[in-house]
Amino acid sequence: MQPIPDHLIIAIDGHSSCGKSTFARAIAKRLNYRYIDSGAMYRAVTLFSIQNHLFKGENPDREKLLRLLPKINISFEYNPNRQENEIVLNGEFVENAIREPEVARKVSIISKIPEVRSRMVEIQRNLGEKGGIVMDGRDIGTVVFPNADIKIFLTASPEIRAQRRFKELKEKGIEMGFNEVLENILERDRIDSTRSVSPLRKAPDAILLDNSNMTVEQQMEWFEQFLHERFGG
Ligand code: DC
Repeated sequence: MQPIPDHLIIAIDGHSSCGKSTFARAIAKRLNYRYIDSGAMYRAVTLFSIQNHLFKGENPDREKLLRLLPKINISFEYNPNRQENEIVLNGEFVENAIREPEVARKVSIISKIPEVRSRMVEIQRNLGEKGGIVMDGRDIGTVVFPNADIKIFLTASPEIRAQRRFKELKEKGIEMGFNEVLENILERDRIDSTRSVSPLRKAPDAILLDNSNMTVEQQMEWFEQFLHERFGG
């Protein structure tokens, strides 16, 4: 195989809870690229909105949020405690805080706001400027990097995704019935695919990968095969 260039942009989009970040992280490690979790950025804006009491009931005070938007600094830095690059919100590592259920409940409202999206897209494009990056999300191959070198659209059946999520929650000690988990997944699919700004769509030139019956190792074998086909050998 020819050497794989060190400046590619790899976009991984797809449905929620189908293992995008695990796959994207493994690809970044394989190629020695940076991994950027774009969903974490929308979660960080949501956390900021909660911390600054911008929510009045279900909805944020939009005017106030837009005024504060330039004060939201988001970056990814090496966290020596966890030996990984992690999201930093205004100088603080917030990886744990952005996974809290309150953030998960409110993030789809925040990620629908066009001004929030354009600010995040601007940061994402800056992060990808020099390439050598794997970014996962919903609109990476369609909006953020329409010219990405490699685009993968990852999916799995809702039932399989619910099983994986159910197991994950159980391991964390969070009790939720399987049907509720499945309903949450279907609802998130609906919100992600039907919103008017940057809805979840497979880019026409993205490769579809259904990992319903694949382990992470099998996905990496698939990726190696893809590299062989693309870069010869
Ligand atoms: O992948 P995730 O569950 O961490 O994403 C959190 C939320 O952010 C989810 O509601 C979808 C949204 N999101 C988005 O709108 N665009 C992206 N590029 C990534 C995530």
